[in-house]
Amino acid sequence: MCIDHNLPNYPIIEVIDYLCLTGSLKLKLNRRLEKRMTELETQHESPDKAYPSVAMYGPCTVRNLKQGETKLWCACGLSKKQPWCDGSHKGTGIKPLKWTVNKSQSLFAICACKYTKDPPFCDATHTNLPCEVLDRQKNCTSAHVADKRLCTGCGWVPDF
Ligand code: FES
Ligand SMILES: [Zn+2]
Repeated sequence: MCIDHNLPNYPIIEVIDYLCLTGSLKLKLNRRLEKRMTELETQHESPDKAYPSVAMYGPCTVRNLKQGETKLWCACGLSKKQPWCDGSHKGTGIKPLKWTVNKSQSLFAICACKYTKDPPFCDATHTNLPCEVLDRQKNCTSAHVADKRLCTGCGWVPDF
């Protein structure tokens, strides 16, 4: 079958018709796709979502954490003690994540881009992040002024 790379831009029902599927399969697929699209829209377009600053486009290597140890993972990206919280989040509306080490380990890759879907661990989200971050900041409608510490509408910081 020839793959049309413009398919994702078509309305779902047209894509399904294009693929010539049977009625019940069409219905099932349509429901699943609609659900997934709503999830994605909620994730990415939510006006309430606060975007952190990217502290680093890659993980911090953390050594020798012991089981039961408690850490505060910086979620705003402003901490100077990455990947951990130093209190810089105050006033941003973003709170650090309290993490209790559940297994002693000699090496951890702790997310420092702040966009992981599995905090505090790096899940490689940082790989495709630079373009997404630039686009979001370019399209942000909030004022980016030097005395603003973080624009949670896009993740902009003055020294970006
Ligand atoms: S550093 Fe954030 S996902 Fe890898
Ligand atoms: Zn912004």
